[in-house]
Amino acid sequence: MRSLRFATAAVAAVALSVPLVAGTATAGPSAGRQAAPHSEARFDRLRSAAPEGFYVGTAVAGGGHHLEQDYPDPFTSDKEYRKILGRQFSSVSPENQMKWEFLHPERDRYDFKAADAIVAFAERHGQVVRGHTLLWHSQNPAWLEQGDFSKEELRAILREHITTVVGRYAGRIQQWDVANEIFDDRGTLRTQDNIWIRELGPGIVADAFRWVHEADPKAKLFFNDYGVESVNAKSNAYYALTQDLLAQGVPVHGFSVQAHLSTRYGFPGDLEQNLRRFDALGLETAVTELDVRMDLPESGVPTDAQQKQQADYYRRALSACLAVEGCNSFTIWGFTDKYSWVPVFFQGEGSATVMTEEFDRKPAFYALRSTLKAARED
Ligand code: G3I
Repeated sequence: MRSLRFATAAVAAVALSVPLVAGTATAGPSAGRQAAPHSEARFDRLRSAAPEGFYVGTAVAGGGHHLEQDYPDPFTSDKEYRKILGRQFSSVSPENQMKWEFLHPERDRYDFKAADAIVAFAERHGQVVRGHTLLWHSQNPAWLEQGDFSKEELRAILREHITTVVGRYAGRIQQWDVANEIFDDRGTLRTQDNIWIRELGPGIVADAFRWVHEADPKAKLFFNDYGVESVNAKSNAYYALTQDLLAQGVPVHGFSVQAHLSTRYGFPGDLEQNLRRFDALGLETAVTELDVRMDLPESGVPTDAQQKQQADYYRRALSACLAVEGCNSFTIWGFTDKYSWVPVFFQGEGSATVMTEEFDRKPAFYALRSTLKAARED
């Protein structure tokens, strides 16, 4: 898989030559000026510390749980947030803005405003985009989940959605999470929760990959899930399925682990080994949604020991990806606690990201940066 990282390096070199933020472009040699103080800071950025061809990403906050909070839309309203988003990362994943309920609120109406804005932001900042997601059991609009459609209609609806959405962004999305969370923890296909598999049978998964590939032949097409960091029943199910689909010539290009980790549980020590077995099938691999939550003390502020343990989890997850040749994309599910989904879903847990609510860097941030730098200098 060595050629994969090499192949993406050229794209990265072009991307990184684009000014990161308006006004921070470095002057040409003839300008006769000394390097501005912030040009030093540039090398302290995660994206600049990374080896060539290795993308460091974050989810772009918006939609989903944010709609229930008392702050405005983070991506469009928070200047400091946007500045860090553009500076630190070379890949972005819309957190909710490309999901069905967001993009396709009525059967005959799409709303691309938020997704378009993210893709345009990414292009201005020399970032690639991970598209998330096309075939999932969750966050589907009511018109779809509660509609009374025949099998033929449902199939046509999925195909039309894929063709429209993937076609709109063709050539501008690096990786698509085509199928998200299609297995349960026992490694059984979600034949009840997932409307597509329930109504159309498992073969629809292969069709979805084919349709995405037709609409954007350049995008890399992924299976994405949580709880598949280790070798276990669920990741075994993906291993068997991807082998089968590859043998049939279905355009599957990658397997990604979300990595929503918790310090309540040990670090998945066989992550690298697990990624390697997918790599050996000829697939790309990726870490797509890393965060590390913890039980917060009464003060709400994590102890030094907790921060250290969290930093260690972040470092180990990154090291596992860096160690696997075809693992070129490493994304955290948000970079600041200000907008994290964790406290909304897990009572008493939090502090899962690499920056505080005030955007102060935690040990986990520095752990990522030093690990990237070491890999770059290797
Ligand atoms: O759909 C209900 C709606 O009926 C209800 O009226 C409304 C008010 O409470 O809530 C709506 O559900 C919200 C949902 O987004 C849909 O907008 C949930 O409360 C809200 O918590 C949810 O959050 C998103 C979550 O996906 C949904 O699964 C998060 O913002 C987002 O960070 C999270 O991201 C997922 C990835 O896509 C896939 N992997 C796991 C990851 C974390 O859960």
